Amino acid sequence: MTYKILLLPGDGIGAEVIAEVERVLSWYGKHRGLSFTTETALVGGAALDAEGTPVTDATMKLALESDAVLFGAVGGPKWDGNSFDKKPERALLRLRKDLGLFANLRPAICFDALTDASSLRPEIVAGLDILIVRELTGGVYFGEPKEITTLPNGERRAVDSQVYTTSEIQRIARVAFDLARLRKNQVASAEKSNVMVSGVLWREEVTKVHKAEYADVQLSHILADNCAMQLVRNPKQFDVIVTDNLFGDMLSDEAAQAAGSIGMLPSASLGAKDANGKQKALYEPVHGSAPDIAGKGLANPLACILSLAMCLRYSFARVNDAVLLEKAVEKVLNDGLRTGDIMQPGKTKVGTKAMGDAVLAALDALPNEAAGDTRSI
Ligand code: IPM
Ligand code: MG
Repeated sequence: MTYKILLLPGDGIGAEVIAEVERVLSWYGKHRGLSFTTETALVGGAALDAEGTPVTDATMKLALESDAVLFGAVGGPKWDGNSFDKKPERALLRLRKDLGLFANLRPAICFDALTDASSLRPEIVAGLDILIVRELTGGVYFGEPKEITTLPNGERRAVDSQVYTTSEIQRIARVAFDLARLRKNQVASAEKSNVMVSGVLWREEVTKVHKAEYADVQLSHILADNCAMQLVRNPKQFDVIVTDNLFGDMLSDEAAQAAGSIGMLPSASLGAKDANGKQKALYEPVHGSAPDIAGKGLANPLACILSLAMCLRYSFARVNDAVLLEKAVEKVLNDGLRTGDIMQPGKTKVGTKAMGDAVLAALDALPNEAAGDTRSI
């Protein structure tokens, strides 16, 4: 099986971190028999500048034909003043929507070596391992109407619509329950059923799916604001959190910071499985384009590299290879290497490429059969 991979480096530090991922991919080609072809295309501000649109139809076609998309980051001050349709972020939203990537998996894991990097006390975050399952193609991001109109009295009025159907809620709930079964078997479903009817439906449908298909999984319901508070009070109470698009956007940033550095966290955006078990997929670091350090060789490539580990796991069914890559990242951290964003006293500060070199050296050094680990990045 030769996998088709589309690389979309995007803007800012996207190109630098994707370059390290390409080197890791080559390592897997050479040493682990991974067979793949890559294509690279523009996206975000880079595509706006060169092609006049955040993502062209041709790039969308490449994405639809690929087995996995590896995405860097989009956005930057240059395009901040752009009209809504010409914002670099539209590219990401179109990719998510047109590829049907409804399930966004955002692990928030605190690596032992980085326990002190969190803004929370070490004992609160040591061993933290949460998975946020965010609904990604519905809710207020895509609901209609979505418009700014002018009222007869001259006032302007903006509307975003929070819309969910039963099937949209049920399918994301199933993803969360299935993943929980591979972990600690607990799901917390977060919504605002106290003020939103979409929250009422969310709670009812998650409960239905649970009762009918996943009664063995421990389910709790939590209001999203309380969930935000609990994430900084006692994050280790959670295993899997399932939530809608907007709450998931916010709770995943919060969980990422609790875990240490947003520069460390990967994500997977997955579509529905077809009859052959194949699904569309896009992998991206949770961090953004970091324009302030772009082009300087300072960016942390580990979140993007860990996103490739998720790709190995979910798109290529190579769990051992995914674990090997996660272990290589862990080794590099244990050896004391740090990019600026995770720098700690007494550690060795390195740039993007040196971090990539270290991961490759760790891959060479680790025993090639790193199996049996259940860590769930
Ligand atoms: C994320 C980002 C995106 C989102 C932006 C860049 C559109 O914040 O992936 O969390 O809001 O979903
Ligand atoms: Mg976000």
